[in-house]
Amino acid sequence: MSYGADLSFGWYQPTRIVFGVGAVKETGLELKRLGVERAAVLTDRVLRERTDVVAKVERALGGRLVGIFDGVVADSPAEVIDRAATWARERGADGLVSVGGGSAIDTAKGVAMVLTEGGAIRDHQGSQRLTRRQTPHLAIPTTAGTGSEVSMYSVVLDETAHEKMHFADERIIPDTALLDPELTLDMPAWLTAATALDALTHAIEAYLSIARQPLADAAALGAIRLLGRYLPEALADGNSILARGQLLLAANLAGQAFNGSGVGLAHAMAHVIGARYHVHHGTANAICLPHVMRWCADEFAPRLAEIAVALGESVAGVSTDQAAGRAADRVAALVRKSGLPTRLAEVQVPEAELRACAVASLSDGAIVYSGKFAADEELVLSVYRAAF
Ligand SMILES: [Fe+2]
Repeated sequence: MSYGADLSFGWYQPTRIVFGVGAVKETGLELKRLGVERAAVLTDRVLRERTDVVAKVERALGGRLVGIFDGVVADSPAEVIDRAATWARERGADGLVSVGGGSAIDTAKGVAMVLTEGGAIRDHQGSQRLTRRQTPHLAIPTTAGTGSEVSMYSVVLDETAHEKMHFADERIIPDTALLDPELTLDMPAWLTAATALDALTHAIEAYLSIARQPLADAAALGAIRLLGRYLPEALADGNSILARGQLLLAANLAGQAFNGSGVGLAHAMAHVIGARYHVHHGTANAICLPHVMRWCADEFAPRLAEIAVALGESVAGVSTDQAAGRAADRVAALVRKSGLPTRLAEVQVPEAELRACAVASLSDGAIVYSGKFAADEELVLSVYRAAF
């Protein structure tokens, strides 16, 4: 969709991206480029003990490695970040290598802030508050979803308040993203689907954002095309290195898109469901996304029709409104075929709590980027009810 002569936007994407089968071998060289001599690896125990991914990173780092912290857990709790920062400081680390999904990358963003700014992660909550270059960070994603390797966002779990703390700062965008398709081969089918649908939510919400702009649009549409084609392929054959690589690229493009344009209501809902009921972030998005698309179809039919085409839907001879409906139907079918839950009731969200969830979503930072005005309790509740 075109823009008028009054178009105005900013775009900042400083991450160096290194892609390729076996690219993990470049980790040492890439750290040298960043001037890192003493690298600390942040990862989780499952990756370290049940896969050879961490061993590959270890080999590539050689003498630059000062230690491996394998205590990363889902949703990057604040307590883990503070503990990992103390651990890294004791080892004199001058750079971080995150290995894992969004939780590992977001944990490293938090550790970088604590190492550079001091204090605890809780002290740095907020938006664009940092004034200095942060500890260098090379991210190695092992899932194809969050796009956190190119984003200025970090979501941290406050375990005591059962809330998610949000950080948004250009200075926490990782310096380097190392994308090696081989490292994602170990993902089980459900995680492949859930993370890819998180990426699809990033791309679609960026495309429907109030802050939409042409460079992010291009990245979003590119991501949607790749996801529509290669998610089914990766699910049919988890060993397809081609499909795995294309999903990594799609997640990266979607990350660039939402870093530029923001996300929207599906994320505002998914953050609340994730914090309260420990539903996987990608699964929560997958449940909400088709309903958010239907909810905003009255204002965004032309853009939704473009999404339908990008997903591979044939819209010849149908009206724009019908094509928009097909985009939501196509996404719903992708979720269903992936074998993920399709209703909030299936992931133990109690019906009696939907209003409380809607109220909590109103204060989530993602909601302000919704292209259709969403910051109203009854509006949000109606989408929760549709997804229940
Ligand atoms: Fe997300």
